Amino acid sequence: MKNIEWQNDTLIFLDQTKLPTETIYIHCTDWRQVAEAIKMLRVRGAPAIGVAAGYGLILAAREASSLNIPFDEQLSTFYEFSESLKETRPTAINLAWAIERVLDLIKENNFHNMEDIIKAITVEAIAIHEEDISLNQRMAKHGATLFDGQQGLRILTHCNAGALATGGLGTALGVIRQLHGNGQLAMVYADETRPLLQGSRLTAFELHQDGIPVTLESDNMAAYAMQQGLIDAVIVGADRITTKGDVANKIGTYGLAVLAKAHNIPFYVAAPYSTFDFNLADGKDIPIEMRSDDEVLSFQGVPSAPEGIQVLNPAFDVTPHELVTAIITEKGVLQPDYEISIEELKCSVLES
Ligand code: MRU
Repeated sequence: MKNIEWQNDTLIFLDQTKLPTETIYIHCTDWRQVAEAIKMLRVRGAPAIGVAAGYGLILAAREASSLNIPFDEQLSTFYEFSESLKETRPTAINLAWAIERVLDLIKENNFHNMEDIIKAITVEAIAIHEEDISLNQRMAKHGATLFDGQQGLRILTHCNAGALATGGLGTALGVIRQLHGNGQLAMVYADETRPLLQGSRLTAFELHQDGIPVTLESDNMAAYAMQQGLIDAVIVGADRITTKGDVANKIGTYGLAVLAKAHNIPFYVAAPYSTFDFNLADGKDIPIEMRSDDEVLSFQGVPSAPEGIQVLNPAFDVTPHELVTAIITEKGVLQPDYEISIEELKCSVLES
């Protein structure tokens, strides 16, 4: 079974908060369950929440159509549900992108009943999912070209940008899987990724299950690993990339980029076109999700700080484009000057 699946009018996905100790699938027949799952990180990772939201919209449209009110009111109720789904997580643009893609389709077509809308959303949600699988495969191939002729690679990654975070192979981990398949990979160093441990619970789990060599380190060990000459490159995913090439990703990514620069190690970002915000130039304008204090005050449910202490808990940070060596996309590897290469990406996306 895949990470996310649409079966018999039900969205089924693996509850990532339970990994690696329990394998529990959640069956959603109500869009509110999808919203709750996105908010609580049961389904997480920028592309995966876009895919889940696409299916969530089918459930939202179905509920709206079941209401005993005129069609125009059913439609506006559906738009309200969509807005609530979009508000669940603000930083990863893939969520808003997937919802806007479906809403644009509805606005462009002059539908006269909810049944036709539900059919159209279903086709589009499946298309978003299938497209993500193919984007991952293409990114993996392009990313591997950055390492042509190199063997014994040791790659550091942060958070989880793998199969669990997408509909397919993963973004950063897709490239890593490709390097492994090519026989070029010696070791993946996975940052644990405090506070919610996506690195240890998900990345180490995913790679270990697939027989890809992985070494786990807590986040504060990255500088040591680089100083010891253990890291050849950093590859991370992204939640939003601006037209200047500033990159929002899991908190701690910016620190890694600074460290990579200090140690003269290339810092690569892998992301599909759906992670680019073509309407935003500057990374400082990216909304950063602030999460509950409890995530920092406790460690897996056990209190680990004095009661009542103040907490800072941003879920993401922004790496300025100057620190990004290259951005791996499904269309190829983007090099600086990103204002030019991202504009070219945008044009080729609009053409296709
Ligand atoms: O809060 P999360 O776990 O959803 O954050 C996920 C990340 O930051 C990933 O690195 C990012 O979405 C890239 S995923 C392909």
